[in-house]
Amino acid sequence: MSARRSPWLLVAAHLRPEGRRLGVLLAALVVGTALPLVGPLLMRSFIDDATAGRPTRTLVILAGGYLVIAVSSQAVAVLAAYLASGTAWRTTNRLREEIAEHALHLDMDFHARHTPGEMIERVDGDLLGLTEFISGFVAQAVGSSLLLAGTLIVVWTVDARVGATLTALVAFGSYVLFRAQRRVVPAAAAFRQATAELLGSVEERLVAAEDIRANGAGRHVLNRFHEDSARVFGADRRWQVRGGAVLAGTNLLFAVGTATVLAVGVLLLRAGSITVGTVVLLLQYSTLVRWPVEQIVGQAKQLHEAGAAATRVAAVLGEPRTIVESPSARTLPGSGPLSLRFAGVTFAYPGDAPVLHDIDLEVRSGTTLGLIGRTGSGKTTLARLALRLYDPVEAYVALAGTDLREVALRSLRTRVHMVTQGVHVFRASVRDNLTLFDDGVDDGAMVDALASVGLREWLAGLPDGLDTLLGQGGIGLSAGEAQLVTFARVFLSEPGLLVLDEPSSRLDAATEAVVHAATDRLLTGRTAIVIAHRLATIGTVDEVAVLEGGRVVEHGPRAKLAEDRTTRFAHLLAAAGARR
Ligand SMILES: Nc1ncnc2c1ncn2[C@@H]1O[C@H](COP(=O)(O)OP(=O)(O)O)[C@@H](O)[C@H]1O
Ligand SMILES: [Mg+2]
Repeated sequence: MSARRSPWLLVAAHLRPEGRRLGVLLAALVVGTALPLVGPLLMRSFIDDATAGRPTRTLVILAGGYLVIAVSSQAVAVLAAYLASGTAWRTTNRLREEIAEHALHLDMDFHARHTPGEMIERVDGDLLGLTEFISGFVAQAVGSSLLLAGTLIVVWTVDARVGATLTALVAFGSYVLFRAQRRVVPAAAAFRQATAELLGSVEERLVAAEDIRANGAGRHVLNRFHEDSARVFGADRRWQVRGGAVLAGTNLLFAVGTATVLAVGVLLLRAGSITVGTVVLLLQYSTLVRWPVEQIVGQAKQLHEAGAAATRVAAVLGEPRTIVESPSARTLPGSGPLSLRFAGVTFAYPGDAPVLHDIDLEVRSGTTLGLIGRTGSGKTTLARLALRLYDPVEAYVALAGTDLREVALRSLRTRVHMVTQGVHVFRASVRDNLTLFDDGVDDGAMVDALASVGLREWLAGLPDGLDTLLGQGGIGLSAGEAQLVTFARVFLSEPGLLVLDEPSSRLDAATEAVVHAATDRLLTGRTAIVIAHRLATIGTVDEVAVLEGGRVVEHGPRAKLAEDRTTRFAHLLAAAGARR
């Protein structure tokens, strides 16, 4: 899965399950191509029979046949479009699923390098482009090529001289159209770019309207607006002129083509080698080639864009996962607190200098460690290692005596729980927010968990109890309530190791007291690391470690460090006390 794949092989691999449907689609396209080719043949018989004075009955049958063909070729075209769009969606949905699944398991480092917007663009934008391309390409490019080839073959069999003329015209026309298109595309892109810039600066000025007025910058701003608008106008005109010229050129090209075929036909008619019906037939075929030529040229540009989209998708799928499970991985004990040990760990983010040096820490099972230190000292990084969001560069982190690299990932993710600084409430029911979409948890446990964090009354006040929708469009939560809901999650999942990265934003005093009490209850009897910004939060932890520049500069039982006036911890406590 991690090997880089060629983008088109990737698309082909996901198309493979569509094999039989693709067969039906191809059959529909062949029939859809053959039908319009038959029309002019019927028309020829009709004209030749009419001029030869054949009975009306034959003529009516021929006219009827012509009508049936026209209607059924439309029906087949609808069927082909239906099949093509189904195939395209099923194929890209398989890719969507794969890329979403893969991205979810990629390293944190990958997500640090790529914004959520970029990922949405891969899963949504690029794959939508591919979907449209597959349905468009299969139905249009393949259909058009068949139609074009079919027309030329029929014309060649009717008359080789006209066939040669038409083939030369098609080749020349495609070449000219293709070249012309290459000049229109950049003009369209330049227009979009100019519009985006105009809108961007309008937005910026609206936001800064007050400043602009207060500083008398109005004239300057208006000038800029005129300049930007002039650019949009110029770009639009270039685009329209070029697009118009291409359309006019194409019309002229095919008109000349039709006239040439007509001239050749009339010469042959005069020479007596073909009938009037055949001249009409050839004329019809010469107008029939225009549509497929335009389609094929249009698809060539899309082929290029879809190729780029497929390349970007393949690049994400080719991104290797570094946090992989060892084949000999073991599961952690299913319940009870677990011990944690950093055995002289050194860590650097990929491509950066080390940010943690020689970390030697042990958190005995059922005890808590308070972690303090300045912003950037490495507290959050240490927490990430405990969750195996990254692997250490040197030494190892062990849970219940097992190197994290030897722990089954599923077991690790269920037994280690982190409450981060950024509390996230999902747009889902209270129930789903508590269980994170696991429906094997009974209501009683959820009510108890909410009661444990002091949310009993809050729950009682909800309109639909546990089924009340939270987040956008539902009940909004205060910062304190959101924090408590995430605490309740912890009570439900009974983690063997809990990492609490305390939010540094201030809660109001009353809420803080509630959150505090809940934190104490949360930590009782648990193995935990508490990253504290407020010393009050770690009033009950067993041990304290102070981080500085990625090193542990002080570590010991909290009470002992607090007593000894020479310690950093005691100094911090004294300073905090003095501020009060
Ligand atoms: N994803 C990351 N990629 C690269 N460097 C990072 C990343 N996250 C944090 N750092 C760096 O690692 C150091 C420790 O950061 P962090 O663990 O967040 O500190 P703290 O939580 O104590 O404020 C800082 O120098 C920070 O710039
Ligand atoms: Mg931090």
